[in-house]
Amino acid sequence: MRDCVIAVAATLAITCSFSAAAWSQTAPPAGATACSGCHGGRDSAMPSLQGKSASDIEAAMTAYRTGAREATVMDRIAKGFGDSETRAIAEWLAQNGAAR
Ligand code: HEC
Repeated sequence: MRDCVIAVAATLAITCSFSAAAWSQTAPPAGATACSGCHGGRDSAMPSLQGKSASDIEAAMTAYRTGAREATVMDRIAKGFGDSETRAIAEWLAQNGAAR
């Protein structure tokens, strides 16, 4: 019985570590670290992403991708990511404050 409880606990731990929420708090999703190269805070010509919510970032990226919002470079960058990738990046940036 004791072995059974341990086995169940181990299975739950593995399942949880692969859930999207747990994963997004640890490893950055593909593409997310590329954002801070420009939105890094040191170059004042780039708009800061600090303090922006995930939905702000996701909405801006979607507007750039569809052409609803004019851009010099973000339209091309935004087109590189699908809806779920954009959401994952936006959530990661908002939670980790990586892009300042
Ligand atoms: C090559 C430099 C560069 C990279 C890399 C880059 N950005 Fe941008 N970003 C810009 C510039 C410049 C603007 C202003 C709009 C424009 O001219 O394209 C901008 C604007 C934005 C805005 C709107 C900010 C505001 O104040 O409204 C968001 C959100 C954004 N970028 C998110 C991202 C995300 C997410 C990534 C990574 C996937 C990223 N950017 C990568 C240069 C960059």
